Amino acid sequence: MRGMLVAGNWKMNASLQSIETLINGIKQGLESVSENCGVVVCPPSIYISKVNELTQGSRILLGAQNVCEEDKGAFTGEVAGTMIKEFNCTYAIVGHSERRNIYRETDELVAKRFAAARRAGIIPILCVGELLEEREAGNTEDIVGKQLDAVLALEGIDAFADAVIAYEPVWAIGTGKTATPDQAQEVHAFIRSKLAGISKDIANNIILQYGGSVNGANAEELFAMEDIDGGLIGGAALKAEEFLKICAAGK
Ligand code: 13P
Repeated sequence: MRGMLVAGNWKMNASLQSIETLINGIKQGLESVSENCGVVVCPPSIYISKVNELTQGSRILLGAQNVCEEDKGAFTGEVAGTMIKEFNCTYAIVGHSERRNIYRETDELVAKRFAAARRAGIIPILCVGELLEEREAGNTEDIVGKQLDAVLALEGIDAFADAVIAYEPVWAIGTGKTATPDQAQEVHAFIRSKLAGISKDIANNIILQYGGSVNGANAEELFAMEDIDGGLIGGAALKAEEFLKICAAGK
C-alpha cells in the first residue's frame, strides 16, 4: 500500500539563518505527523550540505530541486546526480514548471534529467501540469499525457516503480488559486489510469502528489481524495508551523 509524501520545494528562498530556524521548527513538531507520511525538504542546492547536517538523526529526508542530465563535465552552473547523492539526497525534483517555462526545459530534456537522477540512485519527483490556456482549451490530459510519454519513451514503465509524480497545474502555483479537490483528483486519476494501462502494479503503488497553493487550511481535503498521496509545497513550506500542518494532513 502506497504511503503519503509531503515535500517542501523552497525554490530560491532561504538563508543560512532562516534554514536553521525552519529545520529546527519542523523537527520540533514532527510527532504530529503520521509515520505513514514521508517528510522531505528541497533546499536550493547551495544549502543542501547545511540542511543535511541539520537534519541528521531526524526523519526529514532531503531532495534537490533539479539535476543535470549529464553525469559530469563542462556544464557550467549545473549539479550532477552523484553530487547531490553525496549529500544524502533521496529525491530530486525534475521538470518543475518554472524550469519548463522560464528556463525552457523541454519534455525530452526533463526525461533525460529523470533518467540521470535514477542513474545516481535518486528518486525523481517528476512534475507535470498544464498552463491556464491549455486547461481552458480542454487540453489538460493531452499536455500531461505528453509530459509522461516523454519519460515513458526514454525510461519505460519500470522506471516509475521508483519515482514520484507531482501534478502541479501551472495556474495554481504561487497564485493562491488551488485546484479544487475534484479538479485535482480528475487529473490524478487520469495519470494513474494511463500508467495502469501499462502496469497496474506500478500505477497502484506510485505516489502522486498535488502541488499548487497547498496550505494548512486546504491540505486535508486535497489529501483525502483517492488518488492524491500528498503534496509538493512551495510558499507554505517556508514556515515550520504551516508546513507541519500540511504534513499532519498526510494520514
Ligand atoms: P506554491 O505552493 O507556492 O503554489 O508552489 C507550488 C510549487 O510550485 C511546488 O513545487
